[in-house]
Order: sequence, then C-alpha cells, then structure tokens
Amino acid sequence: EKGGYDYFMLKEIAEQPKAVADTLLGRIDAEGLLRLDEVRIPVHELREVDKVVIVACGTAFHAGLIAKYAIEHWTRIPCEVELASEFRYRDPILGARSLVIAISQSGETMDTLMALRHAREQGSKVLAICNTNGSTIPRESDAVLYTHAGPEVAVASTKAFLTQLVACYLVALYLGQVRGTKWGDEIGAVIRDLAQIGGEVERVLETMEPVRELARSLADKNTVLFLGRHVGYPVALEGALKLKELAYMHAEGFAAGELKHGPIALIEPDLPVVVVVPSPRGRSVLHDKIVSNIQEIRARGARTIVIAEEGDEAVVPYADHLIRIPATPTLLQPLVATVPLQVFACELATARGNEVDQPRNLAKSVTVE
Ligand code: F6R
Repeated sequence: EKGGYDYFMLKEIAEQPKAVADTLLGRIDAEGLLRLDEVRIPVHELREVDKVVIVACGTAFHAGLIAKYAIEHWTRIPCEVELASEFRYRDPILGARSLVIAISQSGETMDTLMALRHAREQGSKVLAICNTNGSTIPRESDAVLYTHAGPEVAVASTKAFLTQLVACYLVALYLGQVRGTKWGDEIGAVIRDLAQIGGEVERVLETMEPVRELARSLADKNTVLFLGRHVGYPVALEGALKLKELAYMHAEGFAAGELKHGPIALIEPDLPVVVVVPSPRGRSVLHDKIVSNIQEIRARGARTIVIAEEGDEAVVPYADHLIRIPATPTLLQPLVATVPLQVFACELATARGNEVDQPRNLAKSVTVE
C-alpha cells in the first residue's frame, strides 16, 4: 500500500504533481475562466463580501497565510488569517458580508470546527476547503471546495498542503472573476501558469538527491532556522514545522525583515539557515532585500542553504548550498518552494532514526480542543 516507498510520507510527497493537477481538474474551462459552481454561495453574495477571514491550524494555517497574499492582491478584499484555536476566544468582528474560509485536511479538527460554528453564529458564510469527503467541517459549512489530494496517511501533511494552496488560489481568482476586480492579463497568465504547475512540482522532485544528501549531513545539528519574505515567510514557517514534527529538532521560521529585530542574535558559526528567495523578476525589491539578509547572516558564519529560482545568479556567491526551483509567478512560488523543505525534513528524520509516518506525540486528526 506504500506503493514501493519506505514511508507513506515519501509516497505522498511523490504524489504531489498529481494531487495538484487533480485539484485543478474541471475547475478551469477552455477559455481560461474558473468554473466553481460547486461553491454554492450565490454570486451576488460573493460580490458583496467585504472581508475574508481564514481559520485553520498547523500546516493548513500556513496555507491560509499564503492565501492572504493572493486574495488581497487579486481581489483587493481585506483578508485576515487566524489560528482557529485563538479565533473565537477574542470575540472577532464578523458580519453577514464576511466570508470565513475554514481550511482542514481531515475535516475533523476540533478547533477549526469550533471556529466555523462561531462564525456561522455571527451570521457569516463559511466556505470549507477540505480533503475528506463528508467530514464534519464541510457538513457544517455553507459551501465546500474539496481538495483532491487523495487519502493522506502520514501524520505530517504534504500533498494536502499543496492542494490547499491550489484551492486557495482558485478561491482568490474566483472572487476576482465574479467581482471583476483586477481581471486583466496578469490573472489570465496566472491561471495558465497554475494549469502548468503540476509539471513544475514534478521537475522539483526530480532534483532532490542533493537535498537528501545535505539533510543527512546535518543529522547531528540541534537547530535549523528558516527565513523568508512575502509568501516565502509562511513557506519558512512550514519548513520549520515539518522539521520539528519529523526530526524533533529545534526549528524556527522568521520573516527575514525581522532578523535585525532579534533573531540575528541566534546566528553563530555553522548554524544551518534555510532562506527562501523570492523571484528576482517582478517584485525585485524583495529579492534584493533578501540577498542582503543572506549576506548578513553569512558574514556571521551561518551555513546558508538557499532556495532560489533557476537563473537567479545574485545569490550564488552567498550560498553554501543552493537548491534550485523553477521560475513561477511570485504568488505561486510556495507550490514549488515547499517541496525541498518536505524532502529535507523527511530525510533528516530518517537519518536520526525517527518514525517518519508516525512522529511521537502527534495524531493525524486532532479532535479535541
Ligand atoms: C502538520 C500537520 C498539522 C495539521 C493540523 C491541521 O504536518 O499535519 O499541523 O496541518 O493539525 O489539520 P487539518 O488540516 O486536518 O485540520
């Protein structure tokens, strides 16, 4: 049942190109328009949405953080993202025009369920993004957009995360489509790129041997830091979470701009620091800033592990290890940038003799608060 792989996690990482393609299947028509009739929230209500609030836990929360960038950029609707466990206890401001999106692989996470119940009590519409047909969260929501990752058995989420991202992009683009906001060449191009992205994920998977080798060489380390900017920041958080749960190592993700506000004090010789570099095309300001962050930490002796787009030469002089990913539009980069981090954590866990599919103390679905 592991399809020839040693672990479900390896199988599920390898299934990501298909999971991504399956989640797009039938949802983009021949004209390049989105067909999301399955989201049974009337178009006139979607047009009136004045705020999007995303609630989720763990890895699904990281998908939500990335979705915020996409939703605000493509629709100009303000979007908040909140840990489901924090949400209802602070009496959030919600109304009939708030669209609450609950993201959950299992559809059974108690914190997320309680958050969505709270939102519905306030009169908000709830859209679930979920991987498990007929589970509690979609049953209790007003509408659901299923991710088609297939069953995810390994406790650490991988393919579900990528499909959550795809579903979030679809929702963001669909909101843009029905509202007619910013609906220009950029969006058309993004949809075309999204349709190709499974192939790009496949290409990343084909080049992972050096990442595995690097992971094995770090098996005796105690700490790994992860830095990113823009959508690379939630990717850094996800890389750190995967490492904690699988390798039982101290790992932290930071927004690279926060370095000088504290975390840079942690940098010491030979400390591994993974940096997710945004594309040098497009928003090049971000790129230049992160290159100077890499220089700063390297000057203090950090061992820099740089994830950068093919053709990005500016990072080369400062990268002790360079992991290449294909060029994608900025907002879609998490779909390719997360994959090496999953492989990295999985290989480190193996090298440290940990149980990859069943990390200690964790459960696949957390049905208590
Ligand atoms: C991390 C992981 C957890 C889940 C979280 C939410 O690898 O698996 O952080 O993402 O427990 O679970 P779902 O998506 O089922 O609500």
